[in-house]
Amino acid sequence: MLSKMRMQGEAVVITGGGAGIGKAAAAALCEMGATSIIVGRTEATLRQTQAEFHAKGWKCEVFAADISREEDVARLAQWVAQSGLEVKAIVNNAGNNFSAPIHELPTERWRELMATNLDSVYFMCRDFIPLLLRAKGPSIVNVASTFGVIGNAKMPVYCATKGAVVNLTRQLAIDYGAQGLRVNSVCPGSTLSPRYKGYIEKGLVKMEAVNARIMLGRPADCDEIGDVIAFLISDAASFVTGATMVVDGGQTIH
Ligand SMILES: NC(=O)c1ccc[n+]([C@@H]2O[C@H](COP(=O)([O-])OP(=O)(O)OC[C@H]3O[C@@H](n4cnc5c(N)ncnc54)[C@H](OP(=O)(O)O)[C@@H]3O)[C@@H](O)[C@H]2O)c1
Repeated sequence: MLSKMRMQGEAVVITGGGAGIGKAAAAALCEMGATSIIVGRTEATLRQTQAEFHAKGWKCEVFAADISREEDVARLAQWVAQSGLEVKAIVNNAGNNFSAPIHELPTERWRELMATNLDSVYFMCRDFIPLLLRAKGPSIVNVASTFGVIGNAKMPVYCATKGAVVNLTRQLAIDYGAQGLRVNSVCPGSTLSPRYKGYIEKGLVKMEAVNARIMLGRPADCDEIGDVIAFLISDAASFVTGATMVVDGGQTIH
């Protein structure tokens, strides 16, 4: 089992890999020996994460891009193809949220979230699948949400995009299974990323109420999600495809 989790000589592209869940997934993959290629809009954040990883002796490359923009994703795919790195997997993790009931949701917020949470997954899969099909044991992990499998108050566009990501994952697993490409989604519950901590600080999330709904009685740390993402990419998960991996401490089982 442990030998199947070694990833020496292999690279993984992680969108939103500079912070939060994406950073935790990148760290887990580095620990397994992979090169993490972390992508985000803010180069300074990416460089800081890269410096932390290099200090631990890990391999990490950075690429600044807005993955909601088709031309940025094309630039990223071209750079990776020419880098000489052997890309085994991509993690479509970067995402955002906006809270408002649908009758108060401006069109520009709808379009922005659709682009960040869903168009990005289309651009990334379209541009990277030809590269992935050349790799040994390739896979894609799409980071959705528990709100991709259940609804939540005042999150129409978030729930719509994450539900779409869950079912797009199954669809891709059907189309590319015969070529050995595995595609899975991970659905985190409440997770203490910088963004989520910001919601707590602003009083938008009341932890006491949230904890009461989680069977383990607490939110996840980012590494508890990142480790599951890394496992799904590893050869230890070689028979897992089309799966919806809910990682929520039992938040949605009741
Ligand atoms: N935290 C939770 O409780 C939770 C629960 C369920 C699902 N999720 C999902 O998990 C994923 C990660 O969430 P998180 O909480 O770790 O988020 P986070 O703390 O906000 O980190 C997200 C990262 O994505 C990057 N990013 C955002 N938009 C981008 C874009 N258009 N192009 C490139 N990079 C972009 C951000 O960097 P820049 O701003 O520098 O671009 C940031 O580093 C998201 O898809 C989220 O929906 C989170």
